[in-house]
Amino acid sequence: MKIRNIFLGGAVMCLILSCSSHASTKGDRIEERVDSLLSLMTLDEKLGQMNQVSPGDFEALAAQVRRGEVGSILNYVDADLVNKVQKVAVEESRLGIPLLVARDVIHGYKTIFPIPLGQAATFNPELVEEGARVAAVEASSDGIRWTFSPMVDVSRDPRWGRIAESCGEDPYLNAVMGTAMIKGYQGDSLSDPTAMAACAKHFVAYGAAEGGRDYNSTFIPERVLRNIYLPPFRAAVDAGCATFMTSFNDNDGVPSTANKFILKDILRGEWKYDGMVVSDWASVLEMVNHGFCKDGKEAAEKALNAGVDMEMVSATFINNFKQSLNEKKITLNEIDQAVRNILRLKFRLGLFENPYIVTPQSVKYADEHLAKARKAVEQSVILLKNDNQVLPLQPDIKTLAVVGPMADAPYEQLGTWVFDGEKEHSQTPLMALKAMYGDKVNILYAPGLSYSRDKNRTQIAPAVAAARRSDAIVVFVGEESILSGEAHSLTNLLLQGEQSELIEALAATGKPLITVVMAGRQLVITDEVKESDAVLYVFHPGTMGGPAIADILFGKVNPSGKTPVSFPRTSGQVPLYYAHHNTGRPANPVEMLIDEIPVEAGQTSVGCRSFYLDAGSRPLYPFGYGLSYTTFEYSNLTLSADKLASTDVLTVTLNLKNTGRYDGTEVVQLYVQDKVGSVTRPVKELKAFQRVDLKAGESKQVTFSLPVAELAFWGLDMHYSVEPGAFKLWAGTNSEEGLTADFEVVSAK
Ligand code: NOJ
Repeated sequence: MKIRNIFLGGAVMCLILSCSSHASTKGDRIEERVDSLLSLMTLDEKLGQMNQVSPGDFEALAAQVRRGEVGSILNYVDADLVNKVQKVAVEESRLGIPLLVARDVIHGYKTIFPIPLGQAATFNPELVEEGARVAAVEASSDGIRWTFSPMVDVSRDPRWGRIAESCGEDPYLNAVMGTAMIKGYQGDSLSDPTAMAACAKHFVAYGAAEGGRDYNSTFIPERVLRNIYLPPFRAAVDAGCATFMTSFNDNDGVPSTANKFILKDILRGEWKYDGMVVSDWASVLEMVNHGFCKDGKEAAEKALNAGVDMEMVSATFINNFKQSLNEKKITLNEIDQAVRNILRLKFRLGLFENPYIVTPQSVKYADEHLAKARKAVEQSVILLKNDNQVLPLQPDIKTLAVVGPMADAPYEQLGTWVFDGEKEHSQTPLMALKAMYGDKVNILYAPGLSYSRDKNRTQIAPAVAAARRSDAIVVFVGEESILSGEAHSLTNLLLQGEQSELIEALAATGKPLITVVMAGRQLVITDEVKESDAVLYVFHPGTMGGPAIADILFGKVNPSGKTPVSFPRTSGQVPLYYAHHNTGRPANPVEMLIDEIPVEAGQTSVGCRSFYLDAGSRPLYPFGYGLSYTTFEYSNLTLSADKLASTDVLTVTLNLKNTGRYDGTEVVQLYVQDKVGSVTRPVKELKAFQRVDLKAGESKQVTFSLPVAELAFWGLDMHYSVEPGAFKLWAGTNSEEGLTADFEVVSAK
């Protein structure tokens, strides 16, 4: 036995050395190595590679690894233990195949960045890429080389807790931000020891769960899948995303984990993807609960048949596939294909050359990481309202009341999906205001409520008393971290607990009231906006929330974030998104509301429009909305041509002027409507955006190049093409306000 081990170890060594001597970890060379290694593997070892475990006891794990029963582990983050178990894999398993160590590193590892929804609000993909790079560097210091991110699920329902983890409602924004995260995680080369393999998830349509209830069924027809839900995943393939994860939902009756159409026909067939596909946590076995498979064995077979390579934690592959093979329910070829995909990833990651941790521990919370996280918060904060320019706070403010359950909540500001960042490193708004501005302003802190769901009103009176003694009030409200994220859906999107009452009481003092909402989703804040003079919306900002918010309040930083989702007026208005289709009776801008209907009004539907009697059709704030301390003026929208062929590139130019007193940054957004299609089309779709920095008084010409090919969509015949005809274009400050122009796409002669 020993002799055999040595011989095989030597064979694997040869594989490794032959590769390093050719200095390439890419292309054909990797395929050769994959095939050679595969040819040495027993069936048991192959099944072991397809098995991902979430270990408990180290010795039990080590024994499993030694026997070659594990391809990947998740949720193991102690650097010493990771190295120790890797040593078992490399030195004590028969073939010495290294483990792939995974973790949900979603918006930072130790240094926590804003939740993805907040990162999307920056409309700054470069910054998002930098954040993902920081996360990869820090996570690799504990041996983590695979993250389950980005989540590129188009998310149009704030009841769904996982909207926090998304880049919002728009397919294009999800595609751009997902691409940025993939680039950041994977760096220049996957084989760099600080690179983490990214994972595009959840494939597919998970964000469309019925009623926003997590894990729920979706009923998305193929055309909508292709036009709305698939594009961010396609972009992930184009960005070289190393892995994909299936989703929990069944779409039109077929659980994604066994959806051959999605996993094979589209992902492998149409998109030629050669990465690795992992199931979601126990989503293979859960197909029994779905009523799609009679037992774990059938579930495993259906998952493999559909194209899942690795099973996360439910062990139905490893426990059943020998029997399934004997019964010819699966083929060896299918197993080999899956193992190839897994080994290819391990070779690409350079794990055979560098199985152990290289990144030093000192990278955690490095100063430059904290600085980047702070910049990300600065750009993610959205100014929703600023009456009478109450913000930024002026030097004549002598005393500032700081109130609210989120003012000094180091854990809650981190947001969902934070397993590794420690609240001890959080800089809260209260800490930052005191440290950075405490010498200029007298700060009176009175929380009012202890936490967001607090229903005890006894602390409200002292908060009001502090407010009365102040020149202005900043109240920090919102959601605790645990109210959003996986399996944390809500029906009621209003502020929890007595937070609205707190705001009402503070507003009654007549002092300038600045409300800062820190949350994991867009909440319904219609009343609170009315009561406040200014409103800043901050999706859970992470470690460096405090200093960034303090600098925005005092005007050192001018807000530039834009809403990556539409903000509803009432909970019952959702789902609500700007890129809806028109009905035959589109909503009027002016809508009759419930209080205006006479009692015993005659029954009629004539002239009625698509809207709610009690909320109208419009959002409280539209997608792409966000103010600045300065003002911007758009002018001179010009198109390079008003008739274009589908192969042309449309050049769009406009002038943007900073007409206010502050330097600022505007996110210029370009939307297009295909006016008439073979199927009905969205009323407008985001096609491009740019962040433009302008000094006070400065003007710039802004130019977009829009290939007409990017106006293609899946039409009636289910072909992807640009349909000739009339188009409308908007260039402006949000999805509702902009300069417009028309153009036409003509058929090629
Ligand atoms: C279940 C979640 O849906 C998925 O996003 C996550 O990556 C896995 N659990 C692993 O924790």
